[in-house]
Amino acid sequence: MKIAIFGDIHGNIEALRAAYGAVVNRADRIFHLGDLGGYAPFVNEVVDFLIEHGIDGVQGNYDDAVANDKEHCGCKYEDPLQERMASLSFEWTKKRATQKTKEYLKGLPRERHFFAQGQKISLFHAAPHKNNLYWYEDRPEKFFREMAGKTDARILIYGHTHKSYRRDIEGRVFINAGSVGKPKDGDPRACVALIEITRNEVSTDFLRIEYPVEKIAAAIVEQGLPAYFAETLRQGK
Ligand SMILES: [Fe+2]
Repeated sequence: MKIAIFGDIHGNIEALRAAYGAVVNRADRIFHLGDLGGYAPFVNEVVDFLIEHGIDGVQGNYDDAVANDKEHCGCKYEDPLQERMASLSFEWTKKRATQKTKEYLKGLPRERHFFAQGQKISLFHAAPHKNNLYWYEDRPEKFFREMAGKTDARILIYGHTHKSYRRDIEGRVFINAGSVGKPKDGDPRACVALIEITRNEVSTDFLRIEYPVEKIAAAIVEQGLPAYFAETLRQGK
């Protein structure tokens, strides 16, 4: 069985369309990992696209904050400029998200568990039972083991950091799917994890997919979001 994972789309409908086109004929199922709005303007279009194409997923911290009209998106910032920009984008997204979008975001489960080829898989936005924990590749092995202890799944799939990786520890497979709509690893192309699961093996491909970055960059500025986010998309950061 092959599954494709769309992490952190963040309002980037162009990246989502390209990602979908790249995997629709290669994957048996597609899932998303939440954080559907923010930074780019198309949160409603992203939600409509996911519904229309039957792509199920989990709720991210940003989705929870938008849907429940929270004060803060639950994200972490590296400097005051980033914090100011992110708060503008969060307010903008809360205002523009339609009732239908908010209902959809509100209704997303925090986690999804299923079996493929007899192997249990868990999907969540950031970490088991926590939607805003930054789980980077260089966390100590002890941390990976602790997280694995919170679920009986063999394969754990998550996002939130916008940086993809795979680690294997004691027979468990940890896959951060990266980000479709706002990669932060210096490569502006959309990132999709394509995972093949057989009885004995799990293989992972991190696809990088070109999409019209300038189209979304122009839309960001036109719609009154900070041009700062157009630039971060161009740079993949
Ligand atoms: Fe997130």
